[in-house]
This record gives sequence, C-alpha cells and structure tokens, in this order.
Amino acid sequence: MAVSLVLLLALSSLIPSYCAGNVCDLGRRPDTRPHSVSILEFGAVGDGKTLNTLAFQNAMFCLKSFTTKGGAQLYIPPGRWLTGSFSLTSHLTLFLERDAVILASQDFRRRSFQFLISFRDSYGQGLVWWDRFYSHSLKYSRPHLVEFVSSENVIVSNLTFLNAPAYTIHSVYCSHVYIHKVTANASTESPYTIGIVPDSSDNVCIHDSSINMGYDAISLKSGWDEYGISYARPTDSSISFGSEMSGGISDVEVSDAHMHNSLSGISFRTTKGRGGYMKEIDISGIHMVNVGTAFLANGSFGTHPDSGFDAKAFPLVSHLILHDIVGENISIAGGFFGTKESPFTSVLLSNISLSMVNSVSAAYSWDCSYVDGSSESVVPEPCPELKSFDSSSGRAVAL
Ligand SMILES: *[C@@H]1O[C@H](CO)[C@@H](O)[C@H](O)[C@H]1NC(C)=O
Ligand SMILES: *[C@@H]1O[C@H](CO)[C@@H](O)[C@H](O)[C@H]1NC(C)=O
Ligand SMILES: *[C@@H]1O[C@H](CO)[C@@H](O)[C@H](O)[C@H]1NC(C)=O
Ligand SMILES: *[C@@H]1O[C@H](CO)[C@@H](O)[C@H](O)[C@H]1NC(C)=O
Ligand SMILES: *[C@@H]1O[C@H](CO)[C@@H](O)[C@H](O)[C@H]1NC(C)=O
Repeated sequence: MAVSLVLLLALSSLIPSYCAGNVCDLGRRPDTRPHSVSILEFGAVGDGKTLNTLAFQNAMFCLKSFTTKGGAQLYIPPGRWLTGSFSLTSHLTLFLERDAVILASQDFRRRSFQFLISFRDSYGQGLVWWDRFYSHSLKYSRPHLVEFVSSENVIVSNLTFLNAPAYTIHSVYCSHVYIHKVTANASTESPYTIGIVPDSSDNVCIHDSSINMGYDAISLKSGWDEYGISYARPTDSSISFGSEMSGGISDVEVSDAHMHNSLSGISFRTTKGRGGYMKEIDISGIHMVNVGTAFLANGSFGTHPDSGFDAKAFPLVSHLILHDIVGENISIAGGFFGTKESPFTSVLLSNISLSMVNSVSAAYSWDCSYVDGSSESVVPEPCPELKSFDSSSGRAVAL
C-alpha cells in the first residue's frame, strides 16, 4: 500500500527537556566548506557500469584530513555512479549535482544488514547536503540505504531515495538530525520497507517530505530489539511508534501530515516484557484519505523470540494526544487495546472528524479495552472508555 505524507515531526526520545525549543530551527543550510573535491579526482567513472566503491572510500580517507580545517565537500557531478558501501567522514558535505545518481551495486544489495552509506561517531558539525540520490531496486537481502550512528548535526536535504531494501534512512544514537525536502519511495508491494527510522535519537526534525513505502513511512523506535520486526506481519501504517521502545519514546510532536491509501494511519505498538514507555506524544493536523484503521494502539503486538524477557516489564503508555484530525473514507476509526496489567492511560481525542466508508463502519467504528481517557468533538463517537468529559471546565479531562 502507498503511504504518502508531508509532515513536520519533532522528536526527542532521549533528552526530552532539550527538545523544548524548536527542533526544526536547526535546519539551516550547512556551512560552506573551504575545500571541495570532485569524485572524478579519485578516478570514479559515472557510466552506471564501473564500480566506484574504491573511489568513494579513497575520497573519504582523503577528506578526513580536512576535519579540523573546516571540513570539505565531496562533489558528485551528473552521472550514474555505481558503488558498494562506504562510510562518510565527519565535517563533510556530500553534494550531488542535479542528475547525479548514486546506484547501489548488486554486491551491496546481496549483503544483509549492511548500509550503502554510513556515518558514524561524527560529533560536532557533521553535515550532509545532498541533491539527489537514487538506488536500484533489489531482490536479494535487506540492507538499509543510509545509516547515521552516534552523529550530531546531520542534514539530509533535497534528495530522492528510491527502492531502499529495508529502511531508507536510519538514525541511531544521533542528536540534531534534520531531514528536509526528501522523497523516499519504495514499491508499495515491498515487504517491510520503512522510510525514516529515528531510533534512540533526539531532536529529529522531518519536514516537508514525501514518503511512499510498503510498510511505515516513519517509525519511531528506541532500543535495539529487532524481534518485533521479525515477527511483524507486513501491514502498513503511516507513522508508528514502537514496537521496539524499551528505552522509551516520549515528547514527540507530529503535525501537518497527509496520509493516504494505507492500512493504518497512526499506530502505537508494544507488548509486555518490553518495558519502557511511550508517553507525551502529541499528534495533530493530520489529513487521512482511504485509510483502513485511523488509530491503532496495540499493547499485545508481536511475540517474544525466546523466554529471556522479563514478563513483569510492562510498558507504560500514557498521554497520547490526538487532535485536529480529519479523515475521509476510513474503514475503522480506532482501536485502543491496553492490557490488564498495563492499561493505557490519559488518551485524549479532540476535534477529530472521520467520514467512514459506510454506515456499518460508522456504527462499529471504535473498539477499546484497558484504556482510559477522554474526548471532545469526535465523530464518530468514540468508545465509552474515552468518553469521560468534564462539562464544568468545558474541557476534556485526563490531560
Ligand atoms: C534542489 O535540487 C534541485 C534539483 O537538483 C535544484 O534545482 C535546487 O536548486 C535544489 N534546491 C536547493 C535549495 O538546493
Ligand atoms: C514517489 O511516489 C509518489 C507516489 O506514488 C509519486 O507521485 C512520485 O512521482 C514518486 N517519485 C519518484 C521520484 O519516483
Ligand atoms: C495486536 O497484535 C497481535 C500480535 O501481533 C495481533 O495478533 C492482534 O491481532 C493485534 N491486535 C489488533 C487489534 O490489531
Ligand atoms: C479542528 O481541526 C481542524 C483541522 O482538522 C482545524 O482546521 C480546526 O481549526 C480545528 N478546530 C478547532 C476548534 O480547533
Ligand atoms: C474507500 O475505501 C474503500 C476501502 O478501503 C476503497 O475500496 C474505495 O475505493 C475507497 N473509495 C474512494 C472513493 O477512494
């Protein structure tokens, strides 16, 4: 299924207080680099056939020496640049000229859990500024396209990413990541492709982008537990939280997103044994069209790969605020399924108007268990668990 959205998302999963400012303010143009070299100087050939992995690796090795001298730009001229994996160095601008296309080689695509471009341990002013980036389609294994690990001040801007085998952009333990004017497309048939995965990262801003994937457009995770993924059925949703959230996900704002043709709109996934929390999540300004289930919070998502989990590590899910949302042609409004041991609390729905596929849909639209919260101005009318309303204040309670 296709999911397409343009959104502004501000996230802080590790250092919530730090996020109080405007995360998206960091989206300035990157600094001008005092040095610029072309990939041609490293013997690369942009004919779409010559393998340029060594040229990219040598370029990075060479550009390392500019790290303490204001950094450098690697210029990629128009052409089709076939390459295997390479790692970016710190204080770097990778600039792709219009009609410059980076193609992932079969080699890269045959390998599991490899990244085409990775960026590690780049503290301070590690910047990337790309104009365009393409990768080939893939039928082999499932590497991710671009990964940032333990990096700060990353900018990805004005780029197109096509046919990532699994994730398109994965940021892990990063701070201040600004993703702007990015298109990320993968076949809508592709199983479990995800656009952007902020994972244990803080101050991530995803802005003005269009993401069309087989599975989630954006999936927020914390922690390394990949098990939820392996067991996940490839259903689709536009924005999801979890299911790997052992380290906690909090203080997230999502606003101004358009989603269409998706099995679900906004999903929260977790399960017992996971521990952690999902809280203080504020979602607003969403426009959904042709979406199966607009909101789904599943507290029993996925199974455990082995018995080595703490059955008492109940996840905390609280203070989910969904407001100012319009949906057209929606099949199911929402399901909130907490568990007896760990009910979801303080779910607030406000100013939500969903027009349903048909009257049957409208009549059986919400389903809730082990959740409490409140609502105001929600159509169709939500389940009783979410109906409490404090008429004296005129506001929904439980915030
Ligand atoms: C974005 O990329 C397009 C095409 O490569 C180019 O014309 C445009 O100037 C770029 N925009 C910015 C802000 O660099
Ligand atoms: C990405 O997918 C969208 C939706 O299917 C489509 O409109 C757009 O043209 C695609 N962009 C590219 C560069 O393939
Ligand atoms: C929640 O997830 C479990 C396990 O993945 C699944 O069996 C169940 O159907 C889901 N519940 C809903 C309401 O989607
Ligand atoms: C309700 O939400 C819509 C957008 O979905 C917005 O245009 C409208 O201003 C909101 N109404 C109130 C009273 O906030
Ligand atoms: C509404 O959704 C249904 C089922 O999801 C779909 O079959 C139908 O084509 C949609 N209608 C429109 C007008 O897009």
